[in-house]
Amino acid sequence: HFVEYLNYEVLDDFGWELTDDDLFEKAARADLDRVDYGEILVEPHESILEAAEKHGFAWPFACRGGACSNCAIALIDGEVPPPNSHVLPPELIDSGIRLSCITTPVTKDAQIVYNVKHLPGVNELLL
Ligand code: FES
Repeated sequence: HFVEYLNYEVLDDFGWELTDDDLFEKAARADLDRVDYGEILVEPHESILEAAEKHGFAWPFACRGGACSNCAIALIDGEVPPPNSHVLPPELIDSGIRLSCITTPVTKDAQIVYNVKHLPGVNELLL
């Protein structure tokens, strides 16, 4: 499964929103550093966080077990099943927030924004 990723800090820098329809088109055109934007291969047995680390990236995490939400990502496209964890309230899950340490995509392609732990609603959950 291929996951196209984008760093939330880039949205902040450029004034983009998670809800922008053309978010990833803009990212593709912006000549961003590989750390901030690109694509990784996620094997079925690994979490998105593990795959990112295997590709040499240091995405935020703390517990690695679905208990803290430091690793939160926002799903923009594709399917990543909701985590089997009670740390995320249903309204965040409904709005596409997932935990990269315990989830893996089920669609061939997915688009996610990582580093969303400072988003309102997510930052209140941080342990
Ligand atoms: Fe704590 Fe993922 S690192 S929930």
